[in-house]
Amino acid sequence: MPDITTARARHAELSNEIEHHNRLYYTQDAPSISDFEYDELMQELLALEAEYAELVTPESPSQRVGSAALDEFSQIKHERPMLSLSNGFSDDDIREFDRRLHKELGQAEERVFDYVAEPKLDGLAVSIYYEKGVFKHAATRGDGKVGEDITQNVKTIRSIPLVLPAGSPDRLEVRGEVFMSHAGFAKLNQAQAELDKKPFVNPRNAAAGSLRQLDSKVTASRPLDIFIYSLGVISDESFATTHSQTLERLADLGFPVCPLLEKVKGAEGCLDYFSRLSEQRANLDYEIDGIVYKLDRLDWQASAGFIAKAPRWALAHKFPAQEKSTVVNDIDVQVGRTGAITPVARLEPLFVGGVTVSNVTLHNQSEIQRLGVRVGDTVIVRRAGDVIPQIVSVNLDKRPGDSQEYVFPTHCPECNSEVVAEGESIIARCSGGLICSAQVKQAIKHFVSRKAMDIDGLGEKIVDALVQEGLINNVADLFKLEYEQVLELEGFAEKSAQNLIDRIRDSKKTELPRLLFALGIPQVGESTAEQLANTFGSLEALSKTDVETLESLPDIGPIVAENIVLFFSEVNNQSVIGSLLSAGVEYSEIVVDDLPDPDSLPLNGKTIVLTGALQELSRSDAKKRLQALGAKVTGSVSKKTDLVVVGTDAGSKAAKAEELGIEMIDEDGLISLLEN
Ligand code: IVH
Repeated sequence: MPDITTARARHAELSNEIEHHNRLYYTQDAPSISDFEYDELMQELLALEAEYAELVTPESPSQRVGSAALDEFSQIKHERPMLSLSNGFSDDDIREFDRRLHKELGQAEERVFDYVAEPKLDGLAVSIYYEKGVFKHAATRGDGKVGEDITQNVKTIRSIPLVLPAGSPDRLEVRGEVFMSHAGFAKLNQAQAELDKKPFVNPRNAAAGSLRQLDSKVTASRPLDIFIYSLGVISDESFATTHSQTLERLADLGFPVCPLLEKVKGAEGCLDYFSRLSEQRANLDYEIDGIVYKLDRLDWQASAGFIAKAPRWALAHKFPAQEKSTVVNDIDVQVGRTGAITPVARLEPLFVGGVTVSNVTLHNQSEIQRLGVRVGDTVIVRRAGDVIPQIVSVNLDKRPGDSQEYVFPTHCPECNSEVVAEGESIIARCSGGLICSAQVKQAIKHFVSRKAMDIDGLGEKIVDALVQEGLINNVADLFKLEYEQVLELEGFAEKSAQNLIDRIRDSKKTELPRLLFALGIPQVGESTAEQLANTFGSLEALSKTDVETLESLPDIGPIVAENIVLFFSEVNNQSVIGSLLSAGVEYSEIVVDDLPDPDSLPLNGKTIVLTGALQELSRSDAKKRLQALGAKVTGSVSKKTDLVVVGTDAGSKAAKAEELGIEMIDEDGLISLLEN
């Protein structure tokens, strides 16, 4: 080994060289050495650092491979809030945006504004902060004010410089979007499949999952990329006078900037860019969900200012929902944990709206009738934004001559019990209850899931095997499982079997909201379970309540109330709960408040809908606080809605509220409502 002085000099040389190759490879797409030669440089660097710990600096390229795993993310407060964007959908929306800006800035309509048009990348916003040219920390957007500290993870993204060239501003915060390319996504999912792990549904989810890893070594192994699209804080006020100049200068400092962005003239220039990019979109190696237009002059941006939490000087022009056609290979039904039978169309896989779709729900029998869909049909599938894909229509011209109308099963495909339709409901259910292995499996999968009892290591396949082998018939049987029984299952060895037994045992100490959610009472989701736990304080008290008391709670309607009472009156359920408690399942005590008198609450009887993103409050907080004041918070706008809270990026619900003439307030309005 060289002495420390020589080692330090060589370390500096290697660092520069490696970062130079990172830039060539990741930012300029023009590598000049082989992977093998690159690895050799990295190995030499790591060897020096192994010998001399003082060489392991935060800006060393060795940081790119990840470091020790964290227990949790700490928080970082954004010096300047991270905003979101208002949306436009039609050509007129864009012209209106331009006209409004002219008015606000007191400029004649004839004066054509310069805009920068850039792809709206479908990934995650991050902020990266440099001090004296060195990467200091990075954060997620979070609620716009405070984000999570993902410094170690962001450092592993090779295209991000760890050190900036001399002469860069003393304090510099850049913001951009982390994403995964289609190629990287395909590779990652192939690797997932080889490890028998679940594939990611789309590049955005894969990027999000990769970036929010507590173990940055995992992040380092994921093909993440980034484009920088704006500045946060900067110490040098004369850095740039326009947005386009800002991006040019950031590119000069070595930041990856999207090569497709263009300076365009006026609304018409924006629209022309939009139509060109719409055509290119399918050929890009990354997902974009629209185009962002930004007023180029920074002084004008400053005068235009902000509305709610989005700048007035920028607009996101969203691409319309994508529709594509494919063939229905089969229609079959799935049996859920409450016996609900849901028909599913198995499709010839297609890539639409950013995801590969091979199954779509057909919801129920009447939806099948409405669509008239049959096996063999060619159908149009639509996917917009985060909405689940759906079949919109059948192309009758392409229907095969021998096709047959779909017949809904009269008996459960799993247990052969009769399928019944409950009352007026359009939902068909298997009447098999506990003898239906499909229902039992689903109930157990739900019981062990992360937000329920959180029994790690009890994956779908293991649950299937346990039920198939007759080792468990209900959730309480889990706690009777023995080591020898697990050991005999395929894929288990001594250590893994013991681990599973230990985890099941550890899960016995839990909290009431989890346990309630885990029981799988129809329509009782996480937040209802929490509310029930806080109101009743024990399983026993809840099991003795009645429909009226339940209905008087802010979040609970007649159907849910009915379901809860029915659940606890069912003998099988009582016996399962009894077995759980005698197996030692216990929860920490909850101190309950007295039930408030609903009539005394200021928002009693009001139905409120929250839509769009909120910045100050999380949506669940907003909901809880509204409910505490007696309001009913629902998910969809109808004539019965009294008030709609419109956050940023609000879509169809705001439009519907407008159409129905329902009162709307923004987040500031909501806050003053809550405070007064
Ligand atoms: S500018 C005030 N530019 O879209 C400016 N955002 O809906 C706010 N995004 O949170 C961001 N591509 O994550 C900007 N070229 C782009 C973008 C972009 C994607 C994301 C970003 C932001 C969200 C707002």
